[in-house]
Amino acid sequence: MKVLVVGGTGFIGTNLTRTLADRGHTVTVLARTAEAEAFEAPVQTVQGDVTDYESIESAFEGRDAVINLVALSPLFTPSGGDEMHNRIHLGGTENVVEAAEAHGVEKLVQMSALGADPEGPTAYLRAKGAAEQVVRDADLEWVLIRPSVIFGDGGEFVDFTKLLTTPYVTGLPGGGATRFQPLWVGDLVPMLADAIEDDAHNGNVYELGGPEKLTLAEVTKQVYQAEGTPVTIVPVPMALAKLGLGVGGRIPGFPMGLDQYRSLNFDNTVEENDVEAFGREPTELRSLADYLSEQTAEQPGDGPRSAWTARGTLLVFAFLALTSYLPNVVDIYSYWGIPRLLFIPSYLLMLVLYDSPWGLENVVYVLDPIVPGSGALLWEVGLVATYYLFAVVVTWLARRVRPGGRANT
Ligand SMILES: NC(=O)c1ccc[n+]([C@@H]2O[C@H](COP(=O)([O-])OP(=O)(O)OC[C@H]3O[C@@H](n4cnc5c(N)ncnc54)[C@H](OP(=O)(O)O)[C@@H]3O)[C@@H](O)[C@H]2O)c1
Repeated sequence: MKVLVVGGTGFIGTNLTRTLADRGHTVTVLARTAEAEAFEAPVQTVQGDVTDYESIESAFEGRDAVINLVALSPLFTPSGGDEMHNRIHLGGTENVVEAAEAHGVEKLVQMSALGADPEGPTAYLRAKGAAEQVVRDADLEWVLIRPSVIFGDGGEFVDFTKLLTTPYVTGLPGGGATRFQPLWVGDLVPMLADAIEDDAHNGNVYELGGPEKLTLAEVTKQVYQAEGTPVTIVPVPMALAKLGLGVGGRIPGFPMGLDQYRSLNFDNTVEENDVEAFGREPTELRSLADYLSEQTAEQPGDGPRSAWTARGTLLVFAFLALTSYLPNVVDIYSYWGIPRLLFIPSYLLMLVLYDSPWGLENVVYVLDPIVPGSGALLWEVGLVATYYLFAVVVTWLARRVRPGGRANT
């Protein structure tokens, strides 16, 4: 078959393109920055933007099937705001469908998402839901795929979990109770290829998930455990997460907003796992824990390095937190000496990172009136949190700049 993979340079697209080529299909990849060197021959590339019909239209000529993988991540607020979900997911799908119909393409496989609904709670899900309707109304055969989160090399799920959290102790909204059903990209891609090839799938909506349902807290623990680093989850009240993301979302350039809070309020799991329609049993699919442990095994030295990163974090944090209390036990102001020298780093950091226009003290000022009976404790917690975050950033940077060092991604 001649297959056009729209959005084929992304995480799922690069894996699918390889599988389609291996199965003997003639594959063309379309994306805004599609470069031929990134793919092995005979895969061809075409540059085009799905929001610009003229730029993509000719790529549909002579194709038997099209798969639409164009994405705008729901994990962050897109630059241009949430309205961009409509432009890319809905407007882009309208253009893909129009071009496919114009060139007599027989089938369109559309990557949607669990919970896609024109009345859904987030801009991403509403745009995905409206795009599904465009596909259902199209004058061609179609298959709709709604997966849970996908993990694998090049995916953002594991990296995003690390970005949101810190080793040893981390806060998670609602204790990280939101459930996911992570599916390995290596299991997903053959199902997508089957959906393209096999007409028995036409007109179906498939909800796909991995072998287990995991809370965000469980995912976080698995990610750090694979590196040999323990992590304790501290529940952050949902009301506080809502306040933080609501306020943050109004600051220009802040990467998240209320949609990210809303997406924590519903599970990303399937009722019936439609992987069986592709001849797979849910229990035989690859688990996240298995993938993570293989990642660690494949990168000898990375496990111990991660352990050193974690120990470094703990050491820097303990030094700053303990020395900040020196004035309570030693009269460091009356004479120069080692205690005063030891105190200087934590004092300077307090001035620069905590007690400053961009410091956590501003959050404490906001929280003080709404957290009953908090008193001075809230200020102490804010300062300790500042030292901890500083320790995490410093050891992460140290590992990044070390020759041969690899970021903890
Ligand atoms: N990954 C997951 O966990 C997950 C879960 C559920 C559903 N999905 C869905 O699966 C599909 C693929 O996801 P993914 O993770 O592979 O996404 P991805 O890695 O972000 O890839 C997105 C692709 O879309 C292209 N693209 C973005 N804007 C475009 C535009 N205006 N015109 C043309 N191409 C454009 C990108 O290339 P350029 O930037 O170069 O144009 C890239 O090839 C998406 O529909 C996504 O919503 C993914």
